Amino acid sequence: MYYSPDFPGYRMRRLRRFKIVQEARLKKDDFVYPLFIDENIKKRKEIASMPGQYRYPLGEVVEEVLSLREVGIRSVILFGIPSKKDDIGCESYNKNGVIQRAIKNIKKEIDDVIVIGDVCLCEYTSHGHCGILDEKNRVDNDKTLEVIGKIVESYADSGIDVVAPSGMMDGTVGFVRRRLDAKGYTDVAIMAYSAKYNSGFYGPFRDAADSGFKFGDRSTYQMDYRNSDEAMREIYLDIKEGADIVMVKPALSYLDIIYRAKNEFNFPLAAYNVSGEYAMTKLSSSVLDQDRVMEEILLSIKRAGADIIISYHAKDFIKKFL
Ligand code: PBG
Repeated sequence: MYYSPDFPGYRMRRLRRFKIVQEARLKKDDFVYPLFIDENIKKRKEIASMPGQYRYPLGEVVEEVLSLREVGIRSVILFGIPSKKDDIGCESYNKNGVIQRAIKNIKKEIDDVIVIGDVCLCEYTSHGHCGILDEKNRVDNDKTLEVIGKIVESYADSGIDVVAPSGMMDGTVGFVRRRLDAKGYTDVAIMAYSAKYNSGFYGPFRDAADSGFKFGDRSTYQMDYRNSDEAMREIYLDIKEGADIVMVKPALSYLDIIYRAKNEFNFPLAAYNVSGEYAMTKLSSSVLDQDRVMEEILLSIKRAGADIIISYHAKDFIKKFL
């Protein structure tokens, strides 16, 4: 007899369609939605490499956040495309910069959406690297931290809820925490891009945020995807330095890292389902059932242990499944 009542799956056949026996479940509040805000445009513009994703002009941001709230998305992470770039990324901490204005506009109209500000220089520097370069074109960690300090202060002055330093400079989290506290922003939280790998899956983002680099790569400051112990050390340090949420990025090739981080630290954990992962599903519609793979992907991230999922799929997923 192959079909045996002793087999543990036997009674599940009957129960499977009921939610009570589903282990991992996604809910609306699990998601953070990324928004690209472009100072150079007047009307939203689709991002070629990411079908269904747009760059928004400042004038459409509040409307878009309201429409996200309508479907139940209560957190957004903002990325800015400034009108001017230079060697040291001055626009990033301009108090009237694109992100600073976006934060103020959202906060003036909407008080029940968490606004997270990605803090990085790559969208603001002419060379596209995530920091200030020295004479040998290497990223100068500590000079970069000084600029990061100015960015977080300008975001906090604008009313940000959470800052998310994504440049992978050493000591960022402690530095940012001290700077915020010194300025009286003790209630601004930090989401740390703790285990951010040097990944090919960021390709479409660099097109979306206009942050591609002119030379070199990011392998000196982003993590080697051969390493998993190192990711645990990065996360450990960020927690010790004062992170409120730690992150693993990308998500899909790093489900083991998510699983391990959740088990080792039991700390609020975000996973970033990045641009290339989104593009892979979107651009394969002739061979894959889009909705099915979207659900399977997002669920796998949740099942691995992520508490928070940053995903370009969030709006579609919620509309179709929740
Ligand atoms: C900025 C940053 C990147 C992403 C988020 N913040 C790109 C990079 O490190 O090159 C990637 C997000 C995505 O691919 O969706 N440092």
